[in-house]
Amino acid sequence: MKSTLAVLPGDGVGPDVTSEAIKVLQAIGSKFNHNFNLQYGLIGGVAIDETGTAFDENTLKICRSCDAVLLGAVGGPKWDDPKAEVHPEDGLLALRKRLGLFANLRPVKVSPVLVDSTNLKPKVIEGVDFIFVRELTGGLYFARPKRQWQTSRGRRATDSMTYSEQEIKRIVRVGFELARTRRKKLTSVDKANVLQSSRLWRQVTMEVATEYPDVELDHMLVDACSMRLIQNPSYFDVLVTENMFGDILTDEASMLAGSMGMLPSASLAGVPQGGVNIFGMYEPIHGSAPRRAGLDMANPIAIILSIAMMLSYSFGLIREAHTIETAVEDVLQQGYRTYDIMDEGKTKVGTQEMGDLIAGKVGG
Ligand code: IPM
Ligand code: MN
Repeated sequence: MKSTLAVLPGDGVGPDVTSEAIKVLQAIGSKFNHNFNLQYGLIGGVAIDETGTAFDENTLKICRSCDAVLLGAVGGPKWDDPKAEVHPEDGLLALRKRLGLFANLRPVKVSPVLVDSTNLKPKVIEGVDFIFVRELTGGLYFARPKRQWQTSRGRRATDSMTYSEQEIKRIVRVGFELARTRRKKLTSVDKANVLQSSRLWRQVTMEVATEYPDVELDHMLVDACSMRLIQNPSYFDVLVTENMFGDILTDEASMLAGSMGMLPSASLAGVPQGGVNIFGMYEPIHGSAPRRAGLDMANPIAIILSIAMMLSYSFGLIREAHTIETAVEDVLQQGYRTYDIMDEGKTKVGTQEMGDLIAGKVGG
């Protein structure tokens, strides 16, 4: 099989971890006889420096000509000035919007090998295995108006949370479809006791639920959900929520897995339904971690697991995806750790060695 992949390493540790992901992808290619054609593009701060914008037309063209996009990370102190005209993060938001990547999947699975190395009690996190479905192209992030202005009594600013019935329907369907392939339980997270947009969210979710009588649906307020994630994370199977709530809750949830460096993500342009290949963008959920950039420190596991998600959602290569997941588990089992998940008695390795170890297992 021949597939094309747009590769956007971006800023900070983005390039460090992206090259390890490519290493693992090439190992999969050799082992299973696939040919991955890579096309590199600019995004984020490096794109601002070279082209003046965080996501230029050329990068968009590259992405559109490919079957999937792999992204490292964007952002860094060099481009942080809140008064600047353009920010690296604008590139990521433009990419999501222009490619119609409305469904952000963030699985949180606690590796049995790391159960003792997180900040939480092993008995709380043992067996945790859920997936967040975060709406990615609407809500506070994109609604208009979005501006700051001067009044006679000082400055004001606004961002408003707006959702259409269609936007809610399609993202909630993603939640139901995923639940069908798992433990058939969907939790919809909103703030329907206060927000109109959440009341519409809840109504539409209940309407869509009639198409999925086999899935058990419950509704949870976002504040209660943030508590439940720590108190009893095994409660969850699939969660679906709007953009901003999802942004906040997934950072919180990442701590269950020990480190943000462990968690992959997929941003899809369609509803995943058995056997259909969907255009998607794949990235680790950690950011650019500028202080670690170029030091061969960052944990490449999140982006390597993102490659596994890409293989299954965009290329339909399920066996290949499992091969990567098993390779990651094996390397952890053997005691290798990057700094962020380092523990007593384990072997500390850098970004590249971790990539080599996983690629070696994949090929072996
Ligand atoms: C994420 C990030 C982004 C977001 C930033 C970098 C714009 O935090 O992917 O969660 O807020 O969506
Ligand atoms: Mn975030």
